[in-house]
Amino acid sequence: MELVHTVAALKEAITTQKKQDKTVGFVPTMGALHEGHLSLVRQAGDACSFVVVSIFVNPNQFNNKEDLERYPRNLDADLAMLKTTPCDLVFAPTVSEMYPTEDHRVFDFGHLDVVMEGLHRPGHFNGVAQVVSRLFNMVEPHKAFFGLKDFQQLAIVNQMVKQLKMPVEIVPCPIVREPDGLAMSSRNTLLNSTQRASATLISQTLFAAMQKARHLSVEALKQWVVDNIDQNPDLQTEYFDIVEDQHLNSITSWTDAGNKIGCIAVHCGKVRLIDNVTF
Ligand code: PAF
Repeated sequence: MELVHTVAALKEAITTQKKQDKTVGFVPTMGALHEGHLSLVRQAGDACSFVVVSIFVNPNQFNNKEDLERYPRNLDADLAMLKTTPCDLVFAPTVSEMYPTEDHRVFDFGHLDVVMEGLHRPGHFNGVAQVVSRLFNMVEPHKAFFGLKDFQQLAIVNQMVKQLKMPVEIVPCPIVREPDGLAMSSRNTLLNSTQRASATLISQTLFAAMQKARHLSVEALKQWVVDNIDQNPDLQTEYFDIVEDQHLNSITSWTDAGNKIGCIAVHCGKVRLIDNVTF
């Protein structure tokens, strides 16, 4: 496994592989890797013959300075984990390597960007699109792998690829959960032990909601989810919505068309956690 920090070294390594007809699989990350990331890398390894992982905490996608500062970083631990996977090349650029000049591009993702995460984290998805489009231009992967935990991010990336006509296949990968059901996230390491125990209620509630769906109206179920989570003093729900998976419009009835995804964001102390389930 090779580690590079510059775009020039990245491109050189990838060009060499492409000359040997290798298919490039790409997993963009912000580091603080966990089993969820490693499962993306393994899926990339199964589908492609050369696997690139980027590790870059992208300042442009943080709408909260404190959140950016507290974001966990540990390159050595990340590299040790990646050595256990089919990762061939790690790209870990500095901020100035990634953004030699400021990125002023403003993307228009319409409705996709103004609901749920987009509503509560203004500018977040614009920053995601800036960095992911740059990374795609640098790596030029055949396939890129994204976790379904960030369901809305996946919708945005698909839309961005369409708008920019990028020749990359976006591969959605299942959510990986801790044994107690908590969706794996780099932010879980920021929880103290009491908060960590409380956070289990998020997925437990979503799973219970799947059982209750269709016995309750959509509105009543949404209210039940919020009430059930917020009864725990460590947790405060920011939003819970049930949307169809293409345009992310809120559904109002279980008979509405499309796959129905229940998306949630919950504050657990200062840590913001997201999760989703399919109804
Ligand atoms: O999902 C993430 O970790 C980030 O949003 C991504 C896709 C690596 C872009 O910084």
